[in-house]
Amino acid sequence: MAFRELIFTVSEDLAENLGDALMELGALSISVSDAAVDTEEEKPLYGEPGLTPEKNAWEQSQVVALFDENALSAAEISLALSEEGFQVTIPTERAVEEQDWVRLTQSQFDPIQVGQRLWVVPSWHDAPQDPNAVCLAVDPGLAFGTGSHPTTKLCMQWLEEHEGLSEKTLLDYGCGSGILAIAAKRLGCGPAIGVDIDPQAVSSAKDNAIRNEVTVDFYLPEEDTTDSQHDVVVANILANPLQVLAPALCQRIAPEGHIVLSGILARQAEEVIETYKPWLTLHVWREHDGWVCLTGQLKKKLLN
Ligand SMILES: C[S@@+](CC[C@H](N)C(=O)[O-])C[C@H]1O[C@@H](n2cnc3c(N)ncnc32)[C@H](O)[C@@H]1O
Repeated sequence: MAFRELIFTVSEDLAENLGDALMELGALSISVSDAAVDTEEEKPLYGEPGLTPEKNAWEQSQVVALFDENALSAAEISLALSEEGFQVTIPTERAVEEQDWVRLTQSQFDPIQVGQRLWVVPSWHDAPQDPNAVCLAVDPGLAFGTGSHPTTKLCMQWLEEHEGLSEKTLLDYGCGSGILAIAAKRLGCGPAIGVDIDPQAVSSAKDNAIRNEVTVDFYLPEEDTTDSQHDVVVANILANPLQVLAPALCQRIAPEGHIVLSGILARQAEEVIETYKPWLTLHVWREHDGWVCLTGQLKKKLLN
């Protein structure tokens, strides 16, 4: 089947309603981006899980609607929109070439060397030649955590470089694909569990554990009722939820255990360090591409 895209440039206040109207007119999908996309003027819009971004569109937004060959023509769509009161200029139209989407996606995921020994190797690639390589088979799925993001890499590097991981217990909070708990197990860690609020993440983490032949129990927060304490608590989420979760995460660290926090921009580090002060002293362990990994060690047992 042939597909085509109609591209509209509209002001911020129109973008969302125009997208809805185009869906009503048969669009298969809508994407909204900065009209200055791929130029030096492109501006990022930030949001965090559970928080609505301050803005949903850009001052000048590009609304791209995907249609199949059975849809109305561009002229008919423009007419229908103007009848609904939208004052939009005639959209640009572009054909979407037939692609082998599976091959295209696969070609975008090459093996990733994360540390000295740790690699993430998609199932369609051969393992690297290095006999010391520890290869994880974590295929990109619906969950976050392929090893390509700096925040994931920082945690994996800490796990690889942390002396005496073997026989320690680990909690991976916000486990996504399960990559951190799985990496820890492959590096010789003792019993490990992972928790995520997203059922899809829990499900892909379970699949990835099987694929990597390691035993890790992955749960939704409501299933994680033991309040067990762990020698290592690793959480790669984002600064805001990490601050909200501070009391809960600190209660999960065993005496003399370590906490490893990631997903924090360098400019947010001081604020997160301050939030964790009642429990322990965090410091910046490493920075990568503007993201920092904070770590700290619990000196003694926490009093409730
Ligand atoms: C940035 S991803 C990290 C995934 C993986 N651990 C990694 O390092 O690549 C953050 C994950 O935290 C989960 N998450 C966000 N808020 C959470 C919360 N309050 N409790 C548990 N999981 C949470 C998200 O669903 C997401 O899977």
